[in-house]
Amino acid sequence: MINNIKIIGYGSCMPSNIVTNEDLSKIIDTSDEWISKRTGIKERRISKGESTSDLAIAAAKNALDVAGISASEIDLIIVATSTSDCFFPSTGCTVQSGIGATNATSFDLAGACTGFIYATDVAIQYLKAGRFKNALIIGAEVMSKVIDWNDRGTAILFGDGAGAVVMTVTDEPKITKVYTKSDGTKSEVLKLKAVPIIDMYENVKTIDRSTMTMNGQEVFKFACNVIIETIDALLANTSVKLEDVDYIVLHQANSRIIEYVSNKVNINIEKFFMNLDKYGNTSAASIPIALDEMYKKNILKSGHKVMLIGFGGGLTWGGVLLEL
Ligand code: COA
Repeated sequence: MINNIKIIGYGSCMPSNIVTNEDLSKIIDTSDEWISKRTGIKERRISKGESTSDLAIAAAKNALDVAGISASEIDLIIVATSTSDCFFPSTGCTVQSGIGATNATSFDLAGACTGFIYATDVAIQYLKAGRFKNALIIGAEVMSKVIDWNDRGTAILFGDGAGAVVMTVTDEPKITKVYTKSDGTKSEVLKLKAVPIIDMYENVKTIDRSTMTMNGQEVFKFACNVIIETIDALLANTSVKLEDVDYIVLHQANSRIIEYVSNKVNINIEKFFMNLDKYGNTSAASIPIALDEMYKKNILKSGHKVMLIGFGGGLTWGGVLLEL
């Protein structure tokens, strides 16, 4: 038997420190006008001491409160992140300890900005197969740790934060469709090298921070194309039409990408939830942060069909069509 699944909890945690475009223009050669016009971003949250796992733990606790289940009932914790505090223990294990999820299997997943979609897919497969019953899926990032603050092409885009959902097995019939892809040949388009690099033979010890590099225009075109591809793939071989989808939650990278997609598929922009003006691009965290905000605004209703779509470094992309 293949189980049905549904989301029962949403949570998020954002650093309290707000950095506006005006603030950035004091340290980088940029302006509020340029950033707003090209990206839609007005401000972002930048951690002042909060680690990726601090944010992830707080988001997880909020999601468990909404779900109304205890941490000990969670079987699976997946944290999608590119900015883990440590290579090991994983942020997943740190979250497990932080919330007291004594019965969980916990790990991290590196899918860059598509990480939350990949993690949701993995959780869905475990739940559908009956291996686990309750999964906690988190996207958490402190992107400010890996930004080159001298590169105005990337520094203005990103922010910090964490979002989480609790997913469970249900008897109710629910639509679930997943689509994921990657293209490793395009790895240079968006890259964050791991550090430290210590080479025993060359005696090279690089303990400098590694920072992200990006070809913005390539990423922009890639994103527009793969979002359309993913929408088509999610609807293929289902009875669902795009007009039947209540909300489309795209990775929050740039309002111009979202507007392009809205025009291309001829679906009102109102159906594309956006909060990137407040948070910028929080990488793997952007979709669950958006979901939590939608939940808090009371716009998510039981039976709603929601499409979640991510894209990012790898290159990676994919989406999930869910019935709430
Ligand atoms: N402030 C002011 N000027 C800036 C700037 C900034 N922050 N960043 C770049 N510029 C300048 C450039 O130097 C260039 O100047 P020039 O014409 O004198 O050479 C000009 O603005 C245009 O730069 P360009 O890179 O062509 O701008 P763009 O319209 O492509 O916008 C991005 C740049 C990064 C906003 C856009 O490419 C983008 O959003 N790409 C997708 C990035 C993304 O989403 N990444 C994450 C995906 S997970």
